[in-house]
Amino acid sequence: MSVFKGDRINIELVGGSHDEEMILKMCGTPSFDLDMEKINDYLERRKPSGEFQTQRRESDIPEFKKGLINGRIDGDIEVSVKNREIKKEDYDRLYGKPRPSHADYCQFVKDGDPDFSGGGRFSGRLTVLYCVAGGVAASYLEKKGIKIKGEIISVGKAKKDAAEFSAEVLKELNEAKENSDSVGAVIECVAKGVPAGLGNDYFEGIEGKISSLVYAIPGVKGVEFGKGFAISELKGSEANDQWRYDGGKAVTETNNSGGINGGITNGMPIVLKVAFKPTPSIGKPQKTIDLLSGENTTIEIKGRHDVCFALRAVPVVESAVAIALLDELLKVEEGSTVKDLRAELDKIDDDLRDLFLRRMKISGAIGRLKAQNGDKILSEERERAILKRVTKGLNEKDAEIINKLYEEIFHLSRKEQKNL
Ligand SMILES: Cc1cc2nc3c(=O)[nH]c(=O)nc-3n(C[C@H](O)[C@H](O)[C@H](O)COP(=O)(O)O)c2cc1C
Repeated sequence: MSVFKGDRINIELVGGSHDEEMILKMCGTPSFDLDMEKINDYLERRKPSGEFQTQRRESDIPEFKKGLINGRIDGDIEVSVKNREIKKEDYDRLYGKPRPSHADYCQFVKDGDPDFSGGGRFSGRLTVLYCVAGGVAASYLEKKGIKIKGEIISVGKAKKDAAEFSAEVLKELNEAKENSDSVGAVIECVAKGVPAGLGNDYFEGIEGKISSLVYAIPGVKGVEFGKGFAISELKGSEANDQWRYDGGKAVTETNNSGGINGGITNGMPIVLKVAFKPTPSIGKPQKTIDLLSGENTTIEIKGRHDVCFALRAVPVVESAVAIALLDELLKVEEGSTVKDLRAELDKIDDDLRDLFLRRMKISGAIGRLKAQNGDKILSEERERAILKRVTKGLNEKDAEIINKLYEEIFHLSRKEQKNL
């Protein structure tokens, strides 16, 4: 399970490539009439087709279990997508042998599981759910005049500005396929109609929020905004986006900043480029290790894989951008209606619950360590120090509330530690 906790939107992706069902949970979206076509369009463009893409063909039908009533999004969303072409046996030969540049070895370090069937929870397959969430977000944004569009601008060494781009792409794909190899690609994504003022300084910058959602996509190895890395080679006089009024609207002559200054949208289109690595599953023999025998070995990956999976990732990048923009837009749009405020409270409650349970877990772990070391478990001195720290700088009224809250937290922690 992977969770995105935005400022207004929360998203949870549950399941793996070879599980029977994958589930998307999304909360924080406002009530609105959903354009289901948007979701279908994203899912359709993500689907493999043609000779260079995986032969795994799934129907990818999203089934709304919650949150969609008579075509209207209302409340928390839950969507199920079934996997039908499950072939775990394709991976039997690879048991305990991490595929190079997949998440396998890292997954083993994290979970201790040497079964890497289809990448499990790290698989690109989960981007189906990402596209459903993105479709919901984009459907809302389009009602507000915001349109997001991605396109492939390079495949391997073939660049879009070349005269024969399509022919060169085909050459790259053919050569890679013939050599049991793969290629990467760059996707450019543009969001138009974005109002100025979304995002904030430093840690709340919109580039960071978009990037974190884009980097969540498996296989992404680079993100740049506007001129990106190339801006370092320009002079200030070349790089600066100069302002003018156009019909009363502030616009810039160029858009080297990609529509963002100081972490805040400036009203120009947001432009970003995303670098995808070549498909890591390739037919060529590759060196790896056998985690069970502790020896070096080689593997050949059979299975069903794309020569360039990035060709299917355009709607996934659009989804990432849509979710980030929705999360920011809702902060600006937010009125003080009871419903909005309750939605905010719900989110705070979820966070409080998660943090509290984490605190209890850590408190239990401390108790166990103390018991092992024969140390006294309860420490009033430590409790006093915590209270002093958490109430520091608070006014009398707030300090009183926090004191009361911590009385209960300490009570529950003591109970947890005593029960060890
Ligand atoms: C839509 C999509 C489809 C993918 N399909 C494949 C695939 O068929 N074969 C493969 O080896 N990797 C595929 N990947 C990439 C891997 O999931 C990814 O490289 C791997 O999980 C390691 O993650 P990392 O590259 O972010 O470290 C796909 C990624 C996406 C976004």
